[in-house]
Amino acid sequence: MTDEAWWRHAVCYQVYVRSFADSDGDGIGDLPGITSRLPYLAELGVDAVWITPFYTSPQHDHGYDVADYRDVDPLFGKLADLDTLLEQAHAHGIRVIVDLVPNHTSEDHEWFRAALAAGPGSPERGRYLFRDGPDAVPANTVPANAVPPNTVPPNNWESVFGGSAWARVPDGQWYLHLFDATQPDLDWRNPEVPAMFEDVLRFWLDRGVDGFRIDVAHGLFKEPGLPDQRLTDAEREANLAADLLGPQHPEHEPMWDQPEVHDVYRAWRRILDSYPDDRMAVGEAWTRDAASLARYVRPDELHQSFNFHWLSADWSAPQFAAVITETLAAVALVGGSPTWVLSNHDVIRHVTRYGGGTVGLARARAATMTMLALPGSSYIYQGEELGLEEVDVDRAHWQDPQALTTGKPGRDGCRVPLPWSGDAPPFGFGPGSDQPWIPQPAGWSSLTAEAQAEDAESTLAFYRRALSARRTFATTAGDQVELLDLGAKVLTFRRGPVTAVLNCGTTTVAMPDGTVLLASGPLDDGLPPDTAAWLV
Ligand code: GLC
Repeated sequence: MTDEAWWRHAVCYQVYVRSFADSDGDGIGDLPGITSRLPYLAELGVDAVWITPFYTSPQHDHGYDVADYRDVDPLFGKLADLDTLLEQAHAHGIRVIVDLVPNHTSEDHEWFRAALAAGPGSPERGRYLFRDGPDAVPANTVPANAVPPNTVPPNNWESVFGGSAWARVPDGQWYLHLFDATQPDLDWRNPEVPAMFEDVLRFWLDRGVDGFRIDVAHGLFKEPGLPDQRLTDAEREANLAADLLGPQHPEHEPMWDQPEVHDVYRAWRRILDSYPDDRMAVGEAWTRDAASLARYVRPDELHQSFNFHWLSADWSAPQFAAVITETLAAVALVGGSPTWVLSNHDVIRHVTRYGGGTVGLARARAATMTMLALPGSSYIYQGEELGLEEVDVDRAHWQDPQALTTGKPGRDGCRVPLPWSGDAPPFGFGPGSDQPWIPQPAGWSSLTAEAQAEDAESTLAFYRRALSARRTFATTAGDQVELLDLGAKVLTFRRGPVTAVLNCGTTTVAMPDGTVLLASGPLDDGLPPDTAAWLV
């Protein structure tokens, strides 16, 4: 079945704006930088780009703390630069998805400033989740100018970035922040909040964006009454041990995945559908399983949701097979469109997750090829086409609020600015010779886009071949996937005319019947370990 909606079978390239390309030499990527590299993206063969937040922001969470949803931060350019980017991307046939951050604002947003100024009980505080702590005493029993005791936060929720999810303001009240204290959570039960975001959606749609990536799409609503989270000891330990592969999922999650959130997406879908040309939204929803994820992509809600279950799978054929089966079954129930993702700006790069070095890179290429053969859309993260590994960023250069709060390496290692050319930092990232905002490893010279473009065996050349070959079947191969059994260590499936095979074992296996269209690495008498192939 061919479905004309472009997002149903797209390859979408994530641009982490700070780290993609710098046009003005301040060491931080920007919108004109992205525009200047559109020919590279067109040659790579992507259908769309998703650009991380470039709005006015104090950058405490590198743009995911928005102070003005309708403007471009001077760090990244001007509104006119976005217009140019849109125009030129469209001229290259590339759609543009922008990031929407509705769960929280920046502490610098005018609403939060007004909330602080207005005081307890005010309508201004009612746009956020301000509460008294359990030991608060009535204000009229406290002498003027004294801070009421209120030393215990309103509940036991923890921030994703570590520590209590509550911060206290000078008058003694607390406000909820599921992320950094500079990112106060909005109260989505207050009608002013959805009204504001509907206007923001229209603002960017009117400027010509093709869609939105919805940050923390499973957040927004919190269980009424904000009850304590009930955690078993084992769940608490798992939370503490969690690495950068997304949150754990204890049984009781009063801060995530509340039923009311779906009404928001129904309203947004109506807005998106009122514009021409298949505008779309893709949610960042870290949910418990494929079935809960599928609720976000019912026909009248979001168009897609990132499939983090694929990203979280180990290097294991049975695990990959289980995610494929569960994902396709779950989206089929709601007529949704599957997605696949292996890396983004919040997780350890997949070359490193799969072991790093030569083996990690071989596996990363093979996993990428497997994902690209599946029905639906694949989301790829800048730098994976260069085979970049997670960088062990020196503690002195840590910038991620998560790292700074927890004292553990955070997400800086997957956010190191891209190496474009040359043999020393900043590797063509921007003009000038200063290190970019996160230093690049000195040894990246063989990994630059320039160096790889000339090498037919490079990861960049492989990505170009894979995206080009994918175009020959992506829209016509249909949505049916038939898993074939070639042994416990091998994942094999047929989709339309294409057979995809991935060897997660340690010995070479026989190739299924057919002619090899593409392989992720050298072949011998069969399919070597850590290698994938497409056959027709
Ligand atoms: C999302 C973003 C992440 C950000 C967080 C808070 O998970 O991907 O980078 O820190 O939301 O906005």
